[in-house]
Amino acid sequence: MKIGIVGLGVVGLATGVVLAEQGHKIIGVDIDQNKVKGLECKRSPIYEPGLQEMLERYFHNFTFTTDYGLLFNTDLVFITVSTPTIDGKIYLGYVFDVAKRLRDVLKRNDAIVVIKSTVVPGTARKVKEIVKNDVVSNPEFLREGSAILDTKNPDRIVIGSENKEAGDLVENLWKFTNAPVIRATWEEAEMIKYAANSFLAVKISFINEIANVCEKLKDCDVTVIAKAIGMDKRISPYFLNAGIGWGGSCFPKDTQAIVSFARDLGEELKIVEAAIKVNNERIKRVVSMLKGFIKEGNVCVLGVAFKPNTDDTRESVALKLIKTLKSEGYKVVAYDPKAITNEAKMVGLDECIRIADVVIIATEWDEFKGLEEKLRGKFVIDGRRILDPSKMEKEKFKAVGLGE
Ligand code: UDX
Repeated sequence: MKIGIVGLGVVGLATGVVLAEQGHKIIGVDIDQNKVKGLECKRSPIYEPGLQEMLERYFHNFTFTTDYGLLFNTDLVFITVSTPTIDGKIYLGYVFDVAKRLRDVLKRNDAIVVIKSTVVPGTARKVKEIVKNDVVSNPEFLREGSAILDTKNPDRIVIGSENKEAGDLVENLWKFTNAPVIRATWEEAEMIKYAANSFLAVKISFINEIANVCEKLKDCDVTVIAKAIGMDKRISPYFLNAGIGWGGSCFPKDTQAIVSFARDLGEELKIVEAAIKVNNERIKRVVSMLKGFIKEGNVCVLGVAFKPNTDDTRESVALKLIKTLKSEGYKVVAYDPKAITNEAKMVGLDECIRIADVVIIATEWDEFKGLEEKLRGKFVIDGRRILDPSKMEKEKFKAVGLGE
């Protein structure tokens, strides 16, 4: 098929390369000229495992452009633009702008418009009113850092449609993944995405609260608790890693968006609100651990990205931690294998540890695993539970969810 993808961020690019691999012709549209220019030279604008390689391998199936006009004879067009939360509410302006542009280019074409961007319930219905073409809601559940893998091997495919044939066509497109398919209404499909992200955020905040209690106990380690409860199939072991909190381009904005969306409907999402509150208090706890070691001096923050295997620092808790430490008067140096920031002096890993009085692990990159020996002599705070406490010097080591 000839497939348009509007919005070349991580979701758009991952969707594009995976469908290009399936032999489809992809027209990638973005308003960012530099991004398009780079992509025309086979340069991925972001770091995402496998993306650069896939882009090069299937380049013959791609056209990158800022010109919507090239979408005129597509079979379907994905909307993968961002849906930021502004002043606590979802901003749908980019989605509606795309819809208006598509209405103009698809005039004589019955291409199906597929919404992959995360949008509050009711949005597909509004997009349909604008474009008039068939609209399918097909939310994305990919995680940054494993975006391509997740796109190829999703746990499920959700297809929200009003017109059955349009839904069938999108379902067929993803058949190669062999994933179970949930057919739903537009509103259900849109709600599924928010329910999934909110639930995962709640799960992490839950284990983080349990971690708080563990820290107050003698000989109590949250990782043991998480491992044991995770063996209960009803709970499952995933998203039970206690840490300095959840960040990234999705959880913070999506939890806020659904809370305010529900409030407008007269409903309070008390549990999601509590999860946000718990998350906002994570940094304070790390700072208080730090103050237990030193009141001033040099701090090395290992990890700047919001999670490993990405260079994305959007809503990164590591970055927020750096800002807080600076405002508390500490001198901060940082190291990350991929991400960069102007908020701290970025140095090499060895240099970062050498300068530091205290080392804080803020992102669980593989490179930071097994650093126990190298960290000897330093105060260390493990914010992501990747170090082995038994290999650390007792008086110089603290970790999230680890009791005295
Ligand atoms: C998330 C969802 O997982 C994905 O399905 C959706 O499509 C987009 O949002 P992403 O933001 O890329 O994906 O990363 P994810 O792996 O979910 O991590 C989000 C945050 O939670 C990160 O800051 C991560 O460090 C944190 N996290 C995750 C924990 O603190 N503990 C965990 O156990 C898991």
